[in-house]
Amino acid sequence: MKKIAASLLLLVLLLQTNAQQVSIIPQPTKITQAEGTATINAQTVIVLASADLAPSANFLNDYLQSFFGFKLKVSKTASSSNAIVLSVTNIASENNIPGAYTLKINQKGIQVKGANAIGTFYGIQSLIQILPTVKTANLSVPYLTVEDHPRFAYRGMHLDVGRHFFSVEYVKKYIDFIAMHKMNNFHWHLTEDQGWRIEIKKYPNLTKIGGFRNGTIIGGYPGTGNTNTKYGGFYTQEEIKQVVKYAADRYITVIPEIEMPGHASAAIAAYPQLSCFPDSSTKHPAKVTWVGSTTGKQVQQGWGVYEDVFAPTEYTFNFLQDVLDEVLALFPSTLIHIGGDECPKTAWKKSAFCQQLIKDKNLKDEHGLQSYFIQRIEKYLNSKGRQIIGWDEILEGGLAPNAAVMSWRGEEGGIAAAKQKHTVIMTPNSYAYFDHSQTKKDDSLTIGGYLTVQKVYDYEPIPKELSKEDEKYVLGAQANLWTEYISNWSKIEYMTFPRMTAMSEVLWSQKGQRNWGDFQKRLAEQIKKYEFWNWNYSKAVLNPAAELTDKK
Ligand code: ACM
Repeated sequence: MKKIAASLLLLVLLLQTNAQQVSIIPQPTKITQAEGTATINAQTVIVLASADLAPSANFLNDYLQSFFGFKLKVSKTASSSNAIVLSVTNIASENNIPGAYTLKINQKGIQVKGANAIGTFYGIQSLIQILPTVKTANLSVPYLTVEDHPRFAYRGMHLDVGRHFFSVEYVKKYIDFIAMHKMNNFHWHLTEDQGWRIEIKKYPNLTKIGGFRNGTIIGGYPGTGNTNTKYGGFYTQEEIKQVVKYAADRYITVIPEIEMPGHASAAIAAYPQLSCFPDSSTKHPAKVTWVGSTTGKQVQQGWGVYEDVFAPTEYTFNFLQDVLDEVLALFPSTLIHIGGDECPKTAWKKSAFCQQLIKDKNLKDEHGLQSYFIQRIEKYLNSKGRQIIGWDEILEGGLAPNAAVMSWRGEEGGIAAAKQKHTVIMTPNSYAYFDHSQTKKDDSLTIGGYLTVQKVYDYEPIPKELSKEDEKYVLGAQANLWTEYISNWSKIEYMTFPRMTAMSEVLWSQKGQRNWGDFQKRLAEQIKKYEFWNWNYSKAVLNPAAELTDKK
């Protein structure tokens, strides 16, 4: 009896070992492995059941070309089993969130079936996950069946290009990271105190003046000096169209962020009339080493929050509507991010115009004025068929009727908004701010905070405070990458990985499937893929003892 039990145990262990051979992140809903392998080589044909599946074929072909040096012929029909057949079929999933697929690899070849074209694309991502991580001409893949669908509708990544600018080539790379993690939203933070990054044809000074600063503080705020080097850049509208198309080919929506009423120093430097006090020179903290002119309006050179914000005047509203008109022509996204965070009320308190407006509009105070500001913009965007999304400060002074809320100062804003039946995206800084350190002894300067891979992995986007009825307002979550202390691409990757990989599983995989121990094993495989893809990453997770002792 003991012998039988021991054999059974051995069999279970062997089966588990076998099951571990396939390592897909995010963890699919169901994987069944079988004996045998198929081979992808230069003779393999991609068969497209319909033309709308071409983006999936193109993505796979670009991947094969980049990492294995060959591309596959794309055809409408299969003449042999050496084929990857892409199609769309009816797949029922309990939540109906777009993206369900099945991936089958057996004697008949490789079949990727999506509930729609998006699902087929995710099936291709899973196929990529099981390809070899060494360059070879014959890519062996195990027989298996994957049945999979996403848990959350909104699976996002944010990138701040205001503090540091990253060219279109890098932005496309970031979009590939998003695609390869089965995420579907790219929140592009395009305007900041330290730089305006989007060409607006009606207001050329936004990029000519607002796109550049005379220098940047060195080291942690307030800095030990200044680079004394002009810094900046911006995206032309043609480049933005390219990025939006590149993302759309990966089933990723680009959500542009145009910050208002705060974080507006660069716009004010370009058009001083946007300020409550157009004739006052830009202030900067005494401890910040400043270079260049100290008079007139200037683009900020240090980090933080600044008092010179948009004046709620007709000039400003007309300006913002003009800007948004050009933004809407470039970005098809329904959600348009209007910022709304960290807007000091100092200037509005001092401004006779603002005080009179508060009286005229019967507003309670400056928070009421912020709410008035956001609601005017909301009305404009709603009239164009779009919905605003803002950081959780837009709750203060009263939420605009149709606004979605991005909860960043913890989960409270998200909870409050969901209870008011507003759409919510969770991005709490304690779990989703990838500018925080990954270990207590990080390699280079960060903004502070401490966020390990495990803490990201343990994040649950649905706050337990919400009722079943209200939790449906939480569409998902997003990780944010602010770049005050990230000036080069290698560090973008370092701060992103492996935390993004953990976040992808939080957002895609079913709640009951999340298992840190199992994820760690798959992450070890994923790290081999990072190496193969030549993506930089933090190695802190490879020393779990240090991570655990350091864990808050
Ligand atoms: C934010 O981090 N200020 C949204």
